[in-house]
Amino acid sequence: MTSLRVVYYSADQDEDRWIPGLQAALPGAEVLLWEPGASLADYAVVWKPPQQMLDEQIGLKALFNTGAGVDALMQLRLPPGLPVIRLDDAGMSVQMAEYVCHAVIRHFRELDGYEHDMALGKWSFRKPRSRLDYPVGILGLGVLGERVAKAVAQFDFPVNGWSRSPKAVEGVQCFHGDAQLADFLAASRILVCLLPLTPETEGIVNATNLAHLRSGGHIINVARGAHVVDADLLAAIDGGHVAGATLDVFRVEPLPQGHPYWNHPKITVTPHTSARTLRSESIAQIVLKIGALERGEAVAGRVDAARGY
Ligand SMILES: NC(=O)c1ccc[n+]([C@@H]2O[C@H](COP(=O)([O-])OP(=O)(O)OC[C@H]3O[C@@H](n4cnc5c(N)ncnc54)[C@H](OP(=O)(O)O)[C@@H]3O)[C@@H](O)[C@H]2O)c1
Repeated sequence: MTSLRVVYYSADQDEDRWIPGLQAALPGAEVLLWEPGASLADYAVVWKPPQQMLDEQIGLKALFNTGAGVDALMQLRLPPGLPVIRLDDAGMSVQMAEYVCHAVIRHFRELDGYEHDMALGKWSFRKPRSRLDYPVGILGLGVLGERVAKAVAQFDFPVNGWSRSPKAVEGVQCFHGDAQLADFLAASRILVCLLPLTPETEGIVNATNLAHLRSGGHIINVARGAHVVDADLLAAIDGGHVAGATLDVFRVEPLPQGHPYWNHPKITVTPHTSARTLRSESIAQIVLKIGALERGEAVAGRVDAARGY
């Protein structure tokens, strides 16, 4: 790969770690930080790039997104036909599985209640719940959702999954399409959102859909903040239909001070940390894919711009 040029840009301003990593993994290639007017490159590696970068870099063979979610990228004007390639797992699905299993088990085993009792010095035994009464529904059965569904099923919870196209995942009752959404929700008590953010999925965790869920459950949003209609979720929790929520992502991040989620006793907030991009795994994956593209081979993780994910 001697004559290749790769430009890097991240809104997180972490180029001092990514550029040396990419350079070391692509010996002979030139890896540089994108700045306005930068020379034309063969490949771009980006996170939330500015429109100007896409307008200027007219020689790209492909663009790599250093995350699984491409919703920010899909808001931009992309050169027609430019292959956009997302990270495929790259160490994220195991993180997502542990985060979601923790949240499911914490709710199911009433660990918050025991913590509260402990603070009071109280030895109080709660009647064990039946896991059959706590079916877990996963919205989105993609790279992350499927791994999460299988991990939750390992604890013998009934697991339901919902996707756009029909799926068969061992140990998971699969639903698909808008026509089966209400049945999927009615079969679930705990709801996990692992959908991409698209015009079809924005606001999907809303009053109507929450009302379909079995009561006394828990909402876990690890996808994007805009999947949830915040006022509807708060009303469902305060009204008692939903027992609580674990939220990792928000419409505005960082979550603004004073937001009702911060101090809500039934809501846990984490700072968009459920599955972080692992740099060395991601660089290894990108380098393998650049090699495959240079040989004219197909690569996994290609985004369908018309679908939006
Ligand atoms: N919180 C974090 O730290 C973090 C980290 C990484 C990713 N994420 C989020 O997680 C999301 C999911 O990642 P992924 O890698 O699993 O995505 P993915 O592989 O693209 O899978 C998306 C899943 O959602 C389904 N889907 C999409 N639109 C739908 C619709 N309108 N109706 C029903 N199902 C629909 C897809 O159905 P088909 O299978 O039929 O296509 C697929 O099963 C990302 O987009 C990102 O927003 C969050």
